[in-house]
Amino acid sequence: MSIMSIMSKEKSCPDATLTVEGKSYSLPVVCGTENDRAIDISTLLQQTGYTTLDPGYKNTASCTSDITFLDGKEGILSYRGYAIEELAEKCVFIEVAYLLIHGHLPNPTEYEHFRGLLNQFSLIHEDMIHFFDHFPPNSPPMTMLSVMVNSLSTYYPEMSDDPLKRLDLTAARLISKIRTIAAFSYKKSMGHPLVYPSPDRSYCANFLNMMFDKPVQPYMVHPEAVAALNKLLILHADHEQNCSTSTVRLVGSAGVNLYASISAGINALWGPLHGGANEAVVTMLETIHRDGDNFKKYIDMAKDKSNSFKLSGFGHRVYKTFDPRGKIIKEACDDLLEVLNVSDPLLDIARRLEEIALNDQYFVERNLFPNVDFYSGIIYRALGIPTNMFTVMFALGRLPGWIAQWKEQQEDPDGKIGRPRQVYIGEPSRPFVPMSER
Ligand code: SDX
Repeated sequence: MSIMSIMSKEKSCPDATLTVEGKSYSLPVVCGTENDRAIDISTLLQQTGYTTLDPGYKNTASCTSDITFLDGKEGILSYRGYAIEELAEKCVFIEVAYLLIHGHLPNPTEYEHFRGLLNQFSLIHEDMIHFFDHFPPNSPPMTMLSVMVNSLSTYYPEMSDDPLKRLDLTAARLISKIRTIAAFSYKKSMGHPLVYPSPDRSYCANFLNMMFDKPVQPYMVHPEAVAALNKLLILHADHEQNCSTSTVRLVGSAGVNLYASISAGINALWGPLHGGANEAVVTMLETIHRDGDNFKKYIDMAKDKSNSFKLSGFGHRVYKTFDPRGKIIKEACDDLLEVLNVSDPLLDIARRLEEIALNDQYFVERNLFPNVDFYSGIIYRALGIPTNMFTVMFALGRLPGWIAQWKEQQEDPDGKIGRPRQVYIGEPSRPFVPMSER
């Protein structure tokens, strides 16, 4: 969506005035739907000769978007105007995937058509299964996922010439095949026979069956497990311009096809400061448990500036209150563990750690609350998903959001290749020194 079209909306916001070297410049202000405001600096360099400096883009909006809205102060998250709480409670994941990509909740005809495409595209080319045989044993699932997703573009080259051509098919193909790739990578890692998708199972039921069904031990797909997985995937489906989504947009802005752009997003998500945190949380909780539940030691480490240790699953660039997704997941933990008759000591440890941290001045004054990753691993464990696949699960959920954001960037009539500037603080110009004089 171009800035001009935003500014053409009725809401009028007074311009901002910037004074540089005694000269004043008027800069337009862009007003968002929920009164989020930004100073449009797209002509700043041309007008003033100055760029802006904002490491980590803490104060910088990279685009306008009509997909997701976050309010970090109030803990609000909505997709296409629908509150996350309602979507998580009343939808299944593929309904929300459709909403994010197409901009409206599917009617019954659209929903059935989308389901039909997901079934039609649920297999991967049989040759791709041999890719798994060439990864070293114990290869991280996120490595395999990004390689396999990138490789999909070699089987579907039609995207290369026109990135937006039949994007509805490509989106369905990716959403369905990423689930198959994830389940197959797990089966291969276990040395178990692959379980193929079945046409008469829902998206989430198919995934669980493909992960855990065995010829000698049929898997019973619990409706509660399917409901919990739907909820988790919905809660991870989009989150405006986070690190991996910005990566997908930036790579896509160079004209790269969707598969390669998503593969880049998968790699960005893997970082322990980002989507890799759900795996890091469980590792941290297990370490605390092994260390005799010595909470104080780890809280003190997290507060110690000389120590790089951070409390995984705590803090957020935007949320300075409870992450609304974390609240929903924390509640879902109880329900699922009770229904599946599973008890997990890590849930008690997580609760205790949260309680201590939220009563500690260091965390309180920095607005550090549990984020989406703090409790999600407890549910994945209850479902039987191995820790090293937790971030893969995050990627399965986030895929529709990445696709929607990539599409929005591609469709922007004012879209440009992303190319931030810098402030050079290196050596001043100096004469060359030949080797003999060095
Ligand atoms: C996700 O952006 C998104 O929307 C991401 C995400 C999505 O859906 O896409 O929500 C998913 O990535 C959630 C975040 C998962 N990461 C973690 O749980 C890792 C632990 N969290 C931190 O690394 C940190 O909180 C970040 C990376 C999430 C946010 O970092 P910021 O915004 O750059 O904040 P900061 O590092 O500048 O922290 C501000 C202060 C610092 O202390 P001071 O310099 O002010 O003294 O808070 C401290 C930090 O040291 N701090 C922490 C902390 N997080 C911040 N101290 C201890 N433990 C932590 N977890």
